[in-house]
Amino acid sequence: MESKDKTNIRKLLRENIQQLTPYQVIPETPAVKLDANENNWLAGWFQDELAKKIKEIPLHQYPDTDCTELRKKLAELNEVEHQQVLTGVGSDQIISWIIQAFVEPGDGVVTMNPTFGMYAIDTLMADGALLEVSLDQNFQFQPEPFLTMIHEEGPKVVFITNPNNPTGGIIPRHVLEKVLLAIPAETVVVLDEAYYEFHGETLADKIMAYPNLIVLRTLSKAYGLAGVRVGYALASDEMIDAISCVKPPYHMSSLDQAAALVCLEMIPKVKEELVNVIRWRENMKNFLIQLKNNGRDSQLEVFPSAANFILIRTPHAEKLNQRLKEHQISVRGYGTEGILANCLRITIGTAEENVMLQETIEEYYK
Ligand SMILES: Cc1ncc(COP(=O)(O)O)c(C=O)c1O
Repeated sequence: MESKDKTNIRKLLRENIQQLTPYQVIPETPAVKLDANENNWLAGWFQDELAKKIKEIPLHQYPDTDCTELRKKLAELNEVEHQQVLTGVGSDQIISWIIQAFVEPGDGVVTMNPTFGMYAIDTLMADGALLEVSLDQNFQFQPEPFLTMIHEEGPKVVFITNPNNPTGGIIPRHVLEKVLLAIPAETVVVLDEAYYEFHGETLADKIMAYPNLIVLRTLSKAYGLAGVRVGYALASDEMIDAISCVKPPYHMSSLDQAAALVCLEMIPKVKEELVNVIRWRENMKNFLIQLKNNGRDSQLEVFPSAANFILIRTPHAEKLNQRLKEHQISVRGYGTEGILANCLRITIGTAEENVMLQETIEEYYK
């Protein structure tokens, strides 16, 4: 049978969606995976406990749409009320809800540049106006240009990422406090603290003083639960109610909720492994700085990081990445164009993985 003329499906998309392409992740599984800021120290660590729990989950029923038990646990851990906690399928989901809830076509959304990519993608999907403020040449946050952009453009939402991904850089608390004070109360301020546990500084204690502040956290990084997909927001009751207007019912499966609860019962283990990640981050930083200091790569830049990864910039980035790939080691590369040209982001792995990475890098520079 003759088929009709082929319809160009992409052309049917809303105009702003036509600029987008599906989010892509390289399908191969490398032996050493240091490309997504996961916590390899915690691989499989709580699954025996979860297996025991799974038998009790009523999987024939819809999950608790309010994630009550999980929110209560997260509230207790963060010393807030459970009405001030909202859980999402990854903090990614909460980011998209915030944009859906507050951003009308043409509304401004301010972010740092470079930063986590989903703020821009969600803004484009909502037809919002993305207003990026570049970090300085050392990828450090400067409050003046950021506040100037906010005061000139009057954005609806502002994203501040601390520590930032992919740079690892931080904004000291006293600077953040000043920035927060200077942002108008009509602007929603999202402080993304996905890497909080590796850094230890938060502004979560300010959510009641600033009803426009949302602090975002995730169990994907320090807690080693990236495959489970649980993130959460801490904010005033009023703000949580507002975002909840766009939350679909039963958004988080019973399995996700149970897995998160089992994991949160085992926090001492998380804290133990956190020490290892932080110790290895310092080891990795010193190793990389040595490469520069002993002249093997005099152009290498190692950016200070308070997260579970380190960003470097070097003219060798592409070749070095290729060499790592040949050894089944995957780090995040950014190509040769744009603000992250010649940068590589290296997640801190287990001791064994870090040694393999360092040996391969040593070999490359020989
Ligand atoms: C800064 C930042 N925010 C949010 C996320 C999303 O985390 P998830 O959706 O896994 O909770 C990430 C993930 O890499 C991130 O780096």
